[in-house]
Amino acid sequence: MAYNLLKGKKGIIFGALDEKSIAWRTALRCHEEGAQLVLSNAPVALRMGEINKLAEAVNAPVIGADVTNMDDLKKLFEESMKHFGGGIDFILHSIGMGLNIRKGKHYTEMDYEWNKKTNDISAMSLHRVLKTAWDLDALTEGASVIALTYIAAQRVFPDYNEMADAKALLESVARSFGYHYGVRKKVRVNTVSQSPTRTTAGSGVKGFDGFINFCEKMSPLGNASADECADYCVTLFSDLTKMVTMQNLFHDGGYSTTGVTETVIEQMEK
Ligand code: NAI
Repeated sequence: MAYNLLKGKKGIIFGALDEKSIAWRTALRCHEEGAQLVLSNAPVALRMGEINKLAEAVNAPVIGADVTNMDDLKKLFEESMKHFGGGIDFILHSIGMGLNIRKGKHYTEMDYEWNKKTNDISAMSLHRVLKTAWDLDALTEGASVIALTYIAAQRVFPDYNEMADAKALLESVARSFGYHYGVRKKVRVNTVSQSPTRTTAGSGVKGFDGFINFCEKMSPLGNASADECADYCVTLFSDLTKMVTMQNLFHDGGYSTTGVTETVIEQMEK
């Protein structure tokens, strides 16, 4: 059901790789709610071609940008503003990449060059995006920026590896830049801490199947899906959440504040 919550709003969505991506689901919901969109992803992801299906469905141009490249980001924002004929009202940062994880390196054997790249893509890219918008004065008054994160930033999940540190940095950047952008232009910057979700990035985590089932049983409401995450993002992009900023918002069916559940105890007694 659509509520027209984003009617007249214009946004950039980063990170739609395929139809399972949280960014993909969010783009569809934002479109349903009346937003105009620009889609962006890394040039290597665009070559897969999948994103063109989404672009057609939501009637949006696709503008490539490697989020670690400031020239790419500048071009993306300039072209987006030209396309929209004005400023940008919301941004979804739905980007993550763990090079050590990808290459099978254990946390205790980290390759630091890969780790630099992981932190740049997964965390400092939020700073790069916000700085680009700041320099071009690309965001409208009260605009909303969301980056997706995971609870491994606060609690240990051994197989989340270097991404735990990257997410902690990402959440800190959201707070720090959120302060400055709030003062300057009432821009809101928040992170949404989502349940484990079956996507390309999610499934890259070792033992993902057992883990996602465990989280399901540890959450009073069960795991939140990508579509439900999209719904939540819509509310945060809307005018109904204008005073929410610099927060890490858990979207996890109650997992983050549950110590144990009866289902898990029953399982342990077997
Ligand atoms: P996904 O694999 O569909 O999306 C990750 C995206 O990052 C891809 O579209 C990829 O092309 C993009 N990306 C990687 N390097 C890039 C670069 N240099 N420049 C521009 N884009 C780049 O997976 P998913 O799960 O939708 O991930 C989206 C966000 O949600 C990530 O931040 C992830 O850490 C976060 N998240 C995912 C959870 C899960 O279990 N799937 C749980 C909590 C948070």
